This record gives sequence, structure tokens and C-alpha cells, in this order.
Amino acid sequence: MGYQIWNRRYTGSKYKLSDWITNLITNNCQGSSFCDIFAGTGIISYSILNKVTSLIINDFLYSNEIIYKAFFDNKPYNIEKLENIKSLYNKINIQSISDNYCSQWYGNKFFSYNDAKIIGYIRENIDFLSTEINEKERNILIASLLYSADKVANTVGHYDAYIKGKDIIDRFVFDLIIPYDTKDKNIIISRCDANNLAKNLKCDIVYIDPPYNSRQYSRFYHVLENLACWEKPQLYGEALKPTPINMSEYCRSNAVIAFNDLIESLNCHYIVVSYNNTYKSKSSSSKNKLALEEIQAILNYKGSLQIFEKPHQYFNTGKTTFSNHKEFIFIVKVGD
Ligand SMILES: C[S@@+](CC[C@H](N)C(=O)[O-])C[C@H]1O[C@@H](n2cnc3c(N)ncnc32)[C@H](O)[C@@H]1O
Repeated sequence: MGYQIWNRRYTGSKYKLSDWITNLITNNCQGSSFCDIFAGTGIISYSILNKVTSLIINDFLYSNEIIYKAFFDNKPYNIEKLENIKSLYNKINIQSISDNYCSQWYGNKFFSYNDAKIIGYIRENIDFLSTEINEKERNILIASLLYSADKVANTVGHYDAYIKGKDIIDRFVFDLIIPYDTKDKNIIISRCDANNLAKNLKCDIVYIDPPYNSRQYSRFYHVLENLACWEKPQLYGEALKPTPINMSEYCRSNAVIAFNDLIESLNCHYIVVSYNNTYKSKSSSSKNKLALEEIQAILNYKGSLQIFEKPHQYFNTGKTTFSNHKEFIFIVKVGD
């Protein structure tokens, strides 16, 4: 068993489109260095891994950075040690552990009370183990906890709200993620604002998949961010969110300015952009902040542009109806 990188629920994940996207990239771009600058789940980095020698994986969320380090960092780890810790975690006697930050805030809300208690206990224990485990092992344990917790979360797939009015069953099981073999690869993992990273980046191909609408990822995945950072802040409101950090310009009305600045800054041979046509959606939170024509105009300036499209069913929580869904890939050959 064990978790693969795509075994999580994530708004805008390109998992189902990853073969299509990576084939377009390998058939239309040349180069051995690749940057996934809004990497999200990291599925596109995973799909392209065997086709490049150098990979830069970036996202501004803490939880995503830990997940990338767990799966991709080319550092040693002891799998037997991790398997032993996993079996200890799965033998925890719920009666023997005390109430903690996680059970107090999230118990009977985002998780069952007992599941929240175990999740909080394990997160605390990972920090406690710090003298016995190295950095890669720590990242693997935290990433494994994030995947295991996400699997049993009482949500529709993100943490903007929890599901109310039903009994939440105890079902938490701790399982390990399965790290990838990245020896012989140059892997760089960063947690930067994409526009800042772009100013200092030099690589052959840059893949750009920004948020499409007003839904802020740091607010959607705040529970996982909180578990990753484990600073135990005060939480607010119905959805128990911390004070906002990492609010993306791409989710605001000046997304066009941010996108233009990003494209202008890039020093690379090919730019690949993912986009979908929810721009005219009736729900304001699903409405795109960037119109297809705006992206096209900005990219046209940078070099010769090819556009590919494919029908696709988007993630939504049931409130939004989209028809004629299409996913687009823009490929620019820079300076052509
Ligand atoms: C549409 S998702 C990417 C999905 C990804 N391609 C996948 O297949 O899983 C957009 C990502 O951009 C990140 N993000 C948003 N604004 C950012 C910024 N200014 N700098 C870096 N990352 C950002 C979000 O955290 C989110 O993970």
C-alpha cells in the first residue's frame, strides 16, 4: 500500500490530464530543465520526472513544500525505521492519550473527535522524534500524516467548510507516502511567490498553472497548512481558519497584472500554461480572474504561440454548474 503523490483531493489537480499535458510538453518543447512554478499536488512534476534532468518544484504553501520534499528530495531515509514508527502509530490506544490542539479545534468538525486526537498526537510526536529521525524522514512522516488525515477529513475535498449534521465515524489509519527515486536528477524545491521566483529563474521549460478564480488555496487547505507548520495558532470563524497568509494575487481582480509581470520576468525557452474556460461561470467564486483572450494576448507578446484544447469535467462542490468545459494548454516558444 502507501500513498502516491496523486492520492489526495486537491482543487485544480491536473492528475486526470497529466498524460495529455506531459505528452504535449515532450512533443512541442525541447530542453532538460523544467520548472513547475505553481506545482499544487506536484503531479505534473512527477509525470515529467523521467523526461528531464533538472526539476524545480515550487508552490507557496508550506504543506505542499513538505510533500514535495518527502516525495522528491534526493536524500537518504531508513524505510524500516519509518515502517516501525507507522506500526506504533497504528497501535495508539486512544484512551491513553490526552486531548490536544487538534482534537480541541477540529474534533467532531473536520475529523471525528478520536481521529483528531490521534492526528494531533502523531504531529506532536513527529517533532518529539527530531533527534532520532533525519530531515527526509521527518518530511516523509509529516507528508504521510497529511495524506492520511486528508483521507478521513469530514469535507467535500477542501477545508473551506466541514460537513455538518452527520455522525463522523472514526476511520483514521496512518500510512506512509512512497518516495520517488530521484538519484541522477537535480531537484530544487522552493516555497516562493511565483512572481518572485520567476525573476531569478533560468531553465528551459516553465509550466504555469495558477489559481483560476477567487478561491484562495491557503484558505481552502488551511487545516493541512496548520498541521504542516504546527505552530498552533488561534483559529477563527465557522471554518476555524487562522489569520490569512499567502493570499494570491491570481485570485484577485489584478490577476492580469500579476500574470503579465510573471510572463515578462521569465527567462526560459518555452512557457506552457494551463487554463480552463470557467470564466463565464454563474458562481462568482468560480468565475475566472483571467480571460482566455487576455492570456493569449500576453503570451503572444513573448513568442510564437500554439493552443491545444480538450473537454474536461472540473472539480466543483455541487453549487456550480459548468457546461462546455474545456481545458487549454498554451505553449509559447520564447522569442520566436
Ligand atoms: C491550480 S493549482 C496547481 C495545480 C497543479 N498543477 C496540480 O496539478 O496539482 C494552483 C497552485 O498555485 C499555488 N499558488 C497560488 N498563488 C501562488 C503564488 N503567487 N506563488 C506560488 N504559488 C501560488 C496554490 O497554492 C496552488 O497550489
